[in-house]
Amino acid sequence: MTQDELKQAVARAAADYVAANVPAGSIVGVGTGSTANFFIDELAKVKDRIAATVASSEATKKRLEGHGIKVLDLNDVSRMPVYVDGADEITAKLEMIKGGGGALTREKIVAAVADKFVCVCDQSKLVGTMGKFPLPVEVIPMARAYVARELEKLGGQPKLRAGFVTDNGNLILDVHGLAITDPAGLETTLNQIVGVVTNGLFARRGADVLLLATPDGVRTMTR
Ligand code: 5RP
Repeated sequence: MTQDELKQAVARAAADYVAANVPAGSIVGVGTGSTANFFIDELAKVKDRIAATVASSEATKKRLEGHGIKVLDLNDVSRMPVYVDGADEITAKLEMIKGGGGALTREKIVAAVADKFVCVCDQSKLVGTMGKFPLPVEVIPMARAYVARELEKLGGQPKLRAGFVTDNGNLILDVHGLAITDPAGLETTLNQIVGVVTNGLFARRGADVLLLATPDGVRTMTR
């Protein structure tokens, strides 16, 4: 199976999960990225079962609306049973690195409101120790150089994501060379650096369910 076929299979499983587990008329949070895009296309097939969605990026909002799916402002939503999104790396404890698409801040905010985070990945994303994938850190533009020096003190090699501005008007530093043995601790430490908006570690609030696409089918893992 190709990677796209695996993403397609897990996207279908996630749409089935939503149809089976979420009360009719619910609001669904939707992530960003290529796997999330496959999910949006599958969600469109069961869109009559949900009331609306909340999008984690402008790109996701556009794709949802292209399917005729209603997208709400998060400020108008107090209850969301589920948030579905991909990841760049995920451990068996369902801690993740996210932000390869640069949408980490909005993803973390939408996920915080949801009762359950359902992560959709192909098997290449499951790792023992995170950090091979460079950790994205969203920074306020004027703090870029300062934050980069602080990240170097923590043992990372930050690289500015060239030509990229987030939906929030900020920059991304991709931090290479970290072996992340304490994801929740590092998530907190990075959040203390002045000028950091969000970091791509989703460990304090990891996923609740992982739907993992393998050539033998979609495996379900829970925390
Ligand atoms: C975007 C993300 C994505 O979920 C992550 O990059 C995975 O993307 P893909 O499904 O394309 O591999 O965090 O900010």
